[in-house]
Amino acid sequence: MKLGHYELGVPVFLAPLAGVTDKAFRETVRSVGGEYVWTEMISDKALTYQNSRTLKMLDLSGEAEPRIVQLFGSDPETMARAALLAIEASANIIDINMGCPAQKIIKNNEGSALLKDLPRAQAIASAVVKAVNVPVTVKIRLGWNDQEIVALELAKGLEAVGVQMITVHARTREQFYSGQANWEWIRRVKESVNIPVIGNGDVCKPDDAARLIEQTRCDGVMIGRGALGNPWLIPRVQSFLKHGIILPEPSIEERIRVALEHFDRVLRYKGERIGLNEMRKHAVWYIKGVRKAALIRDEIMQTRSAEEMRVVLNRILE
Ligand SMILES: Cc1cc2nc3c(=O)[nH]c(=O)nc-3n(C[C@H](O)[C@H](O)[C@H](O)COP(=O)(O)O)c2cc1C
Repeated sequence: MKLGHYELGVPVFLAPLAGVTDKAFRETVRSVGGEYVWTEMISDKALTYQNSRTLKMLDLSGEAEPRIVQLFGSDPETMARAALLAIEASANIIDINMGCPAQKIIKNNEGSALLKDLPRAQAIASAVVKAVNVPVTVKIRLGWNDQEIVALELAKGLEAVGVQMITVHARTREQFYSGQANWEWIRRVKESVNIPVIGNGDVCKPDDAARLIEQTRCDGVMIGRGALGNPWLIPRVQSFLKHGIILPEPSIEERIRVALEHFDRVLRYKGERIGLNEMRKHAVWYIKGVRKAALIRDEIMQTRSAEEMRVVLNRILE
């Protein structure tokens, strides 16, 4: 598939994950061979107020194209202004969040609240498309709940105002992240629009991605939770879709090596205090399934310095 001037083949995207897909993790996924990554969702208001923490989230320096930035908001004009700021910060593609189920987002009519207000959803997309000269994409859920599925109508409305790709997380807002994703709706969205559709929800291994494409004819896949502590999943799925080859799972040595490199990046970008705090969750994900994981997890949670974290991780290899 093509997006703007980017020929993406059958892309495997690392999903936007708030609190996870920061610069350090994006670089880590790319270091193991992942091609396409997204930022965390970024508030349009915070960006236009020049909030310093938010501006840091827009640090895309040194990252390969296409640099995909996800924005969330509820006001078309503010979203358009935020999109221009993202492009100034070297974004190549602007994605709009219409799926976040969190209460603090919904109460501002942002994220999945837009599934209840399709005219506003369309107005936001239209304003952003008109403001920028890069591809605009949207990530949606199926609807608010099973009784109010709006994916088809929304997707058609977004296509009509110039959106160039739609990612469908095949759950409703009410489901949050529980229950099974209903891929059948991805197939229906794909059938109802002419722009590329990316399937998302419950891809945890290479074979899942192949089934998702086979069942829905979607143009690419997006992977979220499966990549937590497992950046290799992205290149492993890529390899399977491109060449039919299932690459081996990483060895424990490789996992620790990459976790330590990831940690170095976190420290570089966030400093020791915040970095250590954030790395604890990643480290626990990296060690999932290793021998004595519960014990090591406790040690990770008790680390008080970067050096202690390195010692705990390195000891796994002894
Ligand atoms: C911790 C976490 C943070 C997330 N943050 C975002 C976000 O910032 N923007 C977004 O569009 N979706 C976000 N999502 C949803 C994911 O992008 C994805 O749609 C969802 O997890 C389903 O895919 P999966 O089954 O592969 O995890 C988040 C999900 C999780 C678990």
